[in-house]
Amino acid sequence: MSMQTQERKHAARPIEFVTIKPLKLMHAVVYDDYGDASVLRTGMVEVPRRQPGQLLIHVEASSVNPIDYRLRRGELKGLLLFGFPRIPGYDVAGQVVDCDADAPFKPGDRVMAYLDHLRGGACAEFVTCPMSVAAKIPDSMSTKEAAAIPLAGTTALQSLRDHGQIAPGKRVLINGASGGVGAFAIQIAKRYEAHVTAVASGSNEAFCLELGADCFLDYQKTDFTKSGQQWDLIFDVAGKSGYLDARRVLADGGRYVSTEPNAKGMFMTLVTWPLSKSGTVMLAKPSAADLRELVELYEVGKLKVTIDSQFSMNQAADAHRRVEEGVDHGKVVLVNRF
Ligand SMILES: NC(=O)c1ccc[n+]([C@@H]2O[C@H](COP(=O)([O-])OP(=O)(O)OC[C@H]3O[C@@H](n4cnc5c(N)ncnc54)[C@H](OP(=O)(O)O)[C@@H]3O)[C@@H](O)[C@H]2O)c1
Repeated sequence: MSMQTQERKHAARPIEFVTIKPLKLMHAVVYDDYGDASVLRTGMVEVPRRQPGQLLIHVEASSVNPIDYRLRRGELKGLLLFGFPRIPGYDVAGQVVDCDADAPFKPGDRVMAYLDHLRGGACAEFVTCPMSVAAKIPDSMSTKEAAAIPLAGTTALQSLRDHGQIAPGKRVLINGASGGVGAFAIQIAKRYEAHVTAVASGSNEAFCLELGADCFLDYQKTDFTKSGQQWDLIFDVAGKSGYLDARRVLADGGRYVSTEPNAKGMFMTLVTWPLSKSGTVMLAKPSAADLRELVELYEVGKLKVTIDSQFSMNQAADAHRRVEEGVDHGKVVLVNRF
């Protein structure tokens, strides 16, 4: 090809400009494989993009639930459809950064949310979630208290109200009454005017009675399934008893509700539903209406939030260890400091 032809060819070629949009990055707690708490690290990931109907929230606090370490250990692999890296956490308390113009929220609103089971992602600077899982935080509630409520409070409420059909005067036993879920369950059951027996380790007797329990059993000394007493509703938060044993102390028409979503529990749910003493494994569902019910209880002074300990996000591994090893009582909160 002659020199002249080459020049003509170059002159004819239009110049292309490629615009590279800078990625907006944020800090997050991530893990790249299953394992012990040491797999948790701080990383930089893309800020999630808000879809219509969603809120973009600046996370100020979150909290750790047993599901976080169980997923991290690889116990429930079927739930992790989106692979790695994964951001743990379901509980969010923070401020709305962006939302639809006609949303019942506006930028700057303080909100709490219970994130979707499949994705999680609360241990980051920003999250997105549907408006249907978020509720406003009242001025009287601190951000840390708000972060402690969503998953554990919703589990307690749905277990007692929806699965347990709690009603005034019912005799309710809460097995595992001093932990994240149990401490809310005692107070919700009292709000429903039930008679509450709390079961936990002896060191938590005073704590459970202060929350309103009418009586207390130390699981290290008394096996409630052999106590000879009867209950209308047994809420096995700790998942340490079983339907067949609990059945002995269930009154006619009584219900056993467990939080342990294993195959045995699923089978129990299927075969016992027509029986007069039924057993159910519950799986908590994110719901803004339920968060609002919990907020209302808090505002009338009927729901105290107990914080066992507080860590910053970059200490997430220590926070996981604290929950895995067993808290004194209440919830472990994470604040957004990376
Ligand atoms: N299915 C769902 O949707 C769902 C939702 C939330 C939670 N969960 C499950 O519910 C369980 C509890 O969650 P959490 O946040 O409340 O946990 P947590 O804060 O660790 O509390 C555990 C509770 O269990 C008690 N406990 C320990 N050993 C016990 C035993 N042998 N008998 C009776 N009680 C015993 C503890 O009492 P002491 O500290 O006094 O020993 C404490 O009150 C976890 O397994 C979690 O995975 C399931």
